[in-house]
Amino acid sequence: MEKVPEHIAIIMDGNGRWAKAHGRPRIMGHRAGADALDRVMHYCKDVGIKYLTVYAFSTENWKRSDEEVSGLMRLLSRYIRTKEKQLVKDGVRFRVIGRRTDLSEKLQREIAALEEKTKGGEFTLLVALSYGGRDEIVRAALKFAAKGLDALGRLDDLEGAFSECMDAPDVPDPDLIIRTSGELRTSNFLLWESAYSEYYFTDVLWPDFGRDEFDKALASYATRERRKGGRLK
Ligand code: IPE
Ligand code: IPE
Ligand code: MG
Repeated sequence: MEKVPEHIAIIMDGNGRWAKAHGRPRIMGHRAGADALDRVMHYCKDVGIKYLTVYAFSTENWKRSDEEVSGLMRLLSRYIRTKEKQLVKDGVRFRVIGRRTDLSEKLQREIAALEEKTKGGEFTLLVALSYGGRDEIVRAALKFAAKGLDALGRLDDLEGAFSECMDAPDVPDPDLIIRTSGELRTSNFLLWESAYSEYYFTDVLWPDFGRDEFDKALASYATRERRKGGRLK
């Protein structure tokens, strides 16, 4: 396929509605969402995508019930503990972006261990956890201020210098951002990095997102002309 994005980011939305439609508790929707992530990661590798970022838990999602939050944290912890072998075998470099200090110390340790064990992978999976785009920018601003402009010596490229203070400075900006479940908003996802990303919205709920939908999103992306401020060819 021509024009395959290098980096896809996904707002994996609709797990709760999927569970409701199936008459099951919300956590079952999140479990089905985790299975969808495994599938989609394979599609990405299949077509030569190098980076996948997924929005798994926002800084605002802490507002949800204790039951849902703790269920999600348990699911994450289990994902991290059980996927290690598979990720290493598949050449997946696992990374987390977001305010990881919000997570339990145990989960932080599990994340750090998995990041270390998978660091040689050629395909990068970035999981946004306790992530907010504004929060990431504010934390970057603090790091930037701490460095000081003199130390930076980069007055000719302040945006580049600032980008280096973001959570994954070595990862290129997303080319395509997909949001499932029919909501037409970013919900605080990758605000800095999405400046010139293409968007694809679908009504399909995240646990139902399969190969057909994935191919549709890629086909739509392939037709886009990314001018980035330049003129129409
Ligand atoms: C997305 O699904 C997953 C998280 C936000 C953790 P939701 O849980 O938001 O599903 P809906 O929007 O209620 O259907
Ligand atoms: C965005 O979904 C966050 C994740 C998918 C993790 P939400 O369901 O939290 O977003 P809103 O509340 O509909 O904007
Ligand atoms: Mg939602």
